[in-house]
Amino acid sequence: MPSATSPAAFPSRVPDLSAYRIAVEPYYRPVGDEIAVFEAAWRHRLPVMLKGPTGCGKTRFVEHMAWRLGRPLITVAAHEDMTAADLAGRFLLSPEGTVWHDGPLTQAVRHGALCYLDEIVEARQDTTVVIHPLTDARRILPLEKRNEQVAAHDDFQLVISYNPGYQSAVKDLKESTKQRFIAIAFDYPAPELEAEIVRREAGADAALARILVAIAACSRNLRGQGLDEGASTRMLIHAGRLAAGGVSLEAAVEAAIVLPITDDADVRRALGAAIAACLP
Ligand SMILES: Nc1ncnc2c1ncn2[C@@H]1O[C@H](COP(=O)(O)OP(=O)(O)OP(=O)(O)O)[C@@H](O)[C@H]1O
Ligand SMILES: [Mg+2]
Repeated sequence: MPSATSPAAFPSRVPDLSAYRIAVEPYYRPVGDEIAVFEAAWRHRLPVMLKGPTGCGKTRFVEHMAWRLGRPLITVAAHEDMTAADLAGRFLLSPEGTVWHDGPLTQAVRHGALCYLDEIVEARQDTTVVIHPLTDARRILPLEKRNEQVAAHDDFQLVISYNPGYQSAVKDLKESTKQRFIAIAFDYPAPELEAEIVRREAGADAALARILVAIAACSRNLRGQGLDEGASTRMLIHAGRLAAGGVSLEAAVEAAIVLPITDDADVRRALGAAIAACLP
């Protein structure tokens, strides 16, 4: 007979991971050797950290890699109130009694998915340490409440994203967390490439895409002068969609770039003037 706390007494439900499979290739335009580096890390199941500013392609890259490797992708958006149980799982009351529910990380570990912890630095450090035994040579996830150590499936891999620019020292990752990961740096692509991405993703023509990329360059020059970041590739795509859908270029840029990026009237004026110089 299993003891009250042994895994057999509380069988975990076997989840259907088919919902996490990516059937259609997500469009991803490589910028450097990121695909080769990720594939090499995957071959050794090394954990990977994607570093870079908002809207530069990190999430799209993970989706593309999950598709390329034929693995399901389980994504968790980290936040301040996230607990280790939110990742690992918990006992819940049900008509059949107390039933254990694997959390998203445990599902990925047991069944061999890629687990993407987005903006990991938002989580408290005591939450983050649950990934430590998983991301060193042990590759195990201890579930204390279940009295179980889950050995990672051969196809499990952990990916985290991290934006070094926005964090305060208090929120930075522990050194012992950082040093477990292979890191891949992301940034906004070179103008020709970014125009190609905007054209493709926004359904914009080549001329419109080029103008939007030039606007992005102007806004990125204002980094540190009132703007934390310039316009992201994501913003350019939004502006491109509005403009390709019939909104005037000026109105599209105002709605998709200028207004969302700053609440400061002076910075908005400076940005508006810089952008006006780029418009045809
Ligand atoms: N290299 C690329 N290939 C294809 N699409 C890209 C690429 N880079 C950016 N994009 C486009 O930009 C959009 C924003 O990228 P994504 O959502 O991946 O950003 P992110 O880096 O994850 O941002 P955040 O840190 O805010 O989550 C994508 O939806 C995609 O349309
Ligand atoms: Mg993202």
